[in-house]
Amino acid sequence: MSNYITFAKSEDAVEIAKMEKEFFSSPWSENAILSEINAPDSVFLVSKKNNNITGYISGRDIAGEFYINNIAVKKEFRRQGTAFLLLSGIVNSAKERNCEFITLEVRASNYPAIALYKKTGFEFLGERKNFYSNPKENAAIYTFFFNKRI
Ligand code: COA
Repeated sequence: MSNYITFAKSEDAVEIAKMEKEFFSSPWSENAILSEINAPDSVFLVSKKNNNITGYISGRDIAGEFYINNIAVKKEFRRQGTAFLLLSGIVNSAKERNCEFITLEVRASNYPAIALYKKTGFEFLGERKNFYSNPKENAAIYTFFFNKRI
């Protein structure tokens, strides 16, 4: 069965929390994930294969501006287009909500993620100095505009 995208459910929080711990230096707790899955204006998607989670993405519509919190794919499923599928799902959700843009921060050295955002049409807007800790690092800001103004 191929990879498919669906809305995250409360029972997915345990598995997502494990992935957060493995991939991020300041991981979200299971409780934080649970409340984000069920929060109004949140879009929390998971990719699944044979009913098992392969990846996830979470974001929020804040007054018409869409913020991506996190995206991750399990190591054994990487480079198979899963993150691109998840990100495209979020772009569609934000578009349906008539958001003006989608924005996110990423560690400036995170080449795979930056390549993914560029491929999806996100533009580099600038950096936030020392935004991350463990290790300390600048954040690069990438934004996807639905209606590009010249
Ligand atoms: N090197 C270079 N480009 C990469 C890459 C890598 N290791 N991984 C992804 N990309 C880029 C490529 O442009 C790729 O398109 P292509 O395969 O046609 O060349 C595009 O992203 C889509 O790749 P995809 O297969 O959908 O990505 P993925 O499912 O492997 O997931 C991440 C990408 C970043 C989500 C994954 O590496 C991950 O979970 N990393 C750890 C968590 C993380 O850093 N999240 C981002 C936080 S902001």
